[in-house]
Amino acid sequence: MKELKVSTDTSLFEVPAVLDAGGKLTGVCARQALAVMKSNGFVILTNLLSNEEADVGLELIRRTIEDPDRARCSFASETDNRYVRRDFCSLPSTRVVVSFAAMLCQRLEGIISAYCERSHPLLEITTLTSYLGSSHQYIHRDPAGVISLFAAVTDVSERQGGTVFIPGTHFDGTADRERGDKSRELMELFRVKTNFHIFCYNLAKLWRLLSQRKALLAPGEFRDRVLSRKWDEHQPNLMRFILGKNSQFSRRNLGPRTLWKLYRHRKVIRNLFHLVQTAPRKGTVILYQSDLLHAGPDNRSPHPRRLFSMSIARNSAEYKFWQAGYSPHPTLTAHPISFGDILDLPQARLPRVSSRQMIT
Ligand SMILES: [Fe+2]
Repeated sequence: MKELKVSTDTSLFEVPAVLDAGGKLTGVCARQALAVMKSNGFVILTNLLSNEEADVGLELIRRTIEDPDRARCSFASETDNRYVRRDFCSLPSTRVVVSFAAMLCQRLEGIISAYCERSHPLLEITTLTSYLGSSHQYIHRDPAGVISLFAAVTDVSERQGGTVFIPGTHFDGTADRERGDKSRELMELFRVKTNFHIFCYNLAKLWRLLSQRKALLAPGEFRDRVLSRKWDEHQPNLMRFILGKNSQFSRRNLGPRTLWKLYRHRKVIRNLFHLVQTAPRKGTVILYQSDLLHAGPDNRSPHPRRLFSMSIARNSAEYKFWQAGYSPHPTLTAHPISFGDILDLPQARLPRVSSRQMIT
C-alpha cells in the first residue's frame, strides 16, 4: 500500500534454526528465539524445515484443497472464501497430518513450552491459501491466549501476501512496557489509523477491478464485497461500515474524540509502531502470540499463497472458546489432542503423502 509505510526488513525478528541430535532446537537457539518472541510477539525461524519436509506439508495442503468435502474455516473473510479468493480450511487428524504437526511442535518445544503446558489443547490444524484478488485483512488480534504458527511450504513473496505484524503490540509486550497504561489506547489508535488506509485501499482496488475490461470479478462479487448486509469483518463493505456493524473497522471507530486523539498523539503513534511484512522462504516457520496485532494482506500475484498453520492454547481452553475462535476439524473435535500428546508421538521420518494416506 502506497499510503502506509510497511517495512520488509525482517532481519531483527529472524533466528536461523539450529537443531540438536534429537531433532529439537538447541538450547541457545530456543532461548534466542524466545527472547525475540517475548519482546516482539513473534519470531521467524528460518530453515526449520528441509525442502523435502516442506514438500510433504505442501502435498497435505494440496490434497486438502482438492477435496470437495473439505472443512472450510469460519474465520478470516467469508466472502473471500465464497468467491475462492481465499481457501482456509482445517486439516483432518490423519496419521500424516498429525505426524507433520508433531514434527513442528517437537522441534519448537523449547519455545512453545514457555507458553503452553502439556495438558493444553491443540485448537486447530489449518491451511491458509489466498489467491489473486483477495482482500487485505484489517489489522486485528486473534482470540487471546493462543500460540499460533505458520509454516511456509513454498516461498511466499510480499506480493503473495506474507503476513503483516506490528511488533511489540501483544499484551505485556514492548509497547506495554514502554507506555504502561496508555499503551492499549495508543495501539488502538494506530489500529484505527491503519485500518482506515486498508479500507480505502481495498475499496479502490475493487473499484479498479470492476472498471477493468476483463471480467476479474465474478457476477455479484462487487455487490457482496462492498454493499452486502452479510457478516464479514475483512471486506471494505460500505453498508456495514455505515451501519457500524463491523467490529474491526466502521464509522464507530471514527468519532470526534478518536479523531482528536489521533491528531494529538500522531507523533507518538508514528514513532512507537510500525508495520513489518514477512516474506518467508520455503521451510521458514513463524510463531506468534495471538494477541499481537497482525493482518493477512491481499494476494497481488497470480500464484497462490499457501501456508500450513496450527494453534495451541496457552490455557485449558473451554470447548465453547475453542469453537468460537478457531476451526478444529471434526476429527480433532471428536478426538482432542493435547500439546503433551503431540510431543509424545515417536519422531518418525515423514512418509511421502498419497491421497489414500490423507484419509487413514
Ligand atoms: Fe489473524
